[in-house]
Amino acid sequence: MSKKNVVLIGFMGVGKGSVAREVVQNSNYVAIDTDDLIESMENRKVKTIFEEDGEIYFRKLEKKVAKWLEKNVQNTLVSTGGGFFKQNNIKKVGIIVLLDSPFDAIIKRIKEHPNAEKKLKKRPLLSNLKAARKLYNERRPEYLKVADVVIDVTNKSAEDCSKELLKKVEKYA
Ligand code: S3P
Repeated sequence: MSKKNVVLIGFMGVGKGSVAREVVQNSNYVAIDTDDLIESMENRKVKTIFEEDGEIYFRKLEKKVAKWLEKNVQNTLVSTGGGFFKQNNIKKVGIIVLLDSPFDAIIKRIKEHPNAEKKLKKRPLLSNLKAARKLYNERRPEYLKVADVVIDVTNKSAEDCSKELLKKVEKYA
């Protein structure tokens, strides 16, 4: 735990990016995002990687990023893709903060967003909502198991979530 990274985990669309941006504005943290790292490594969008090379290949890229983070990154807010928490070294990357919300609330949040269509389109695993709900139900207990800190983000602003996060991770500093 000496590395002091804060690792944001949680289901697709729960608001990891929005909370990360808010934390950055209100603290000394700089944020990086595992999907962004993968997209720049590959010079293609996550959606294209899934289409051209499949999910298994994408998970290999996540593994590479996870190892790199463990070795090289400190004092950083690391926002992750919804499946990144499965990397077996994740606890070595930093304090794990789960952004938690029920599936229906997450979908509602995405659908109410001005860029809803784009947000749905860029996430291959949200293209079938029935399958996505199943994935959520499978993952939720696993998210809870790996998390050091849980923040219920339902109906809360990114600003309030950010405040709660900074307060809760303080004790790990
Ligand atoms: C995934 C979530 C996505 C992205 C990829 C796979 C997942 O990130 O990494 O589409 O397995 O849940 P977001 O959680 O930022 O949507």
